[in-house]
Amino acid sequence: TAVADLAGRHVVVSAGGTREPLDPVRYLGNRSSGKQGYALATTAAARGARVTLLSANVELPAPAGVDVVKVTTALELREAAVKAAAEADVVVMAAAVADFRPTDYAAVKIKKRDGVEPAPIALVRNPDILAELSEHRARPGQLVVGFAAETDQVLANGRAKLARKGCDLLVVNEVGDGKAFGLDTNEAVVLGADGSERAIAPGPKEDLADAVWDLVAARLGAAEHG
Ligand code: C5P
Repeated sequence: TAVADLAGRHVVVSAGGTREPLDPVRYLGNRSSGKQGYALATTAAARGARVTLLSANVELPAPAGVDVVKVTTALELREAAVKAAAEADVVVMAAAVADFRPTDYAAVKIKKRDGVEPAPIALVRNPDILAELSEHRARPGQLVVGFAAETDQVLANGRAKLARKGCDLLVVNEVGDGKAFGLDTNEAVVLGADGSERAIAPGPKEDLADAVWDLVAARLGAAEHG
């Protein structure tokens, strides 16, 4: 698409997966590749948006013409997201944010000792960035979009999650059995807080990204003209 339907808009996209450190060399992480978030950033830029990409531990080249802010942990991502959202028309949280982080950080590498069993890893909850951004909109009419990976009851779980998070759109992926993680293709249903439901055919992550921007652009336009 060469349609500049996001021209004059500032969009913030988070991508990748957070890492929660245990000590200077170890972390709790997840398998998010960042491909979907990078596809969202690339396609938004192609449609004329100013793009801030909050990138959590992604091994991909920075998309041309996009502002990249690198973060590691959920707390860093939250800080960067709140800051960037302050002047955004749209925020899309595509990053896999760790639900929990280790309670304690060991300043020196945790050692193994003969005859001593390892201590359990205590965890505390991370803030839910998507829920927070949805509740405290930085601007009136700001759109907030979330992603959800579900293994079962995709629609029912997706609806419940949309309501819980308070976002405008939730892109629900079915995962498991080799679906989605690290692949170049994705398949999803986009649920709207207005009750809408749009199935996106399996295809490249760029196509899913463009389908999300189609829905976003329609909502931004409707708000302006309605
Ligand atoms: O609750 P769940 O992790 O399935 O929700 C996924 C969505 O919520 C994603 O959009 C993710 O970026 C966002 N999220 C978040 N902060 C968290 C956990 C998830 O923003 N602590």
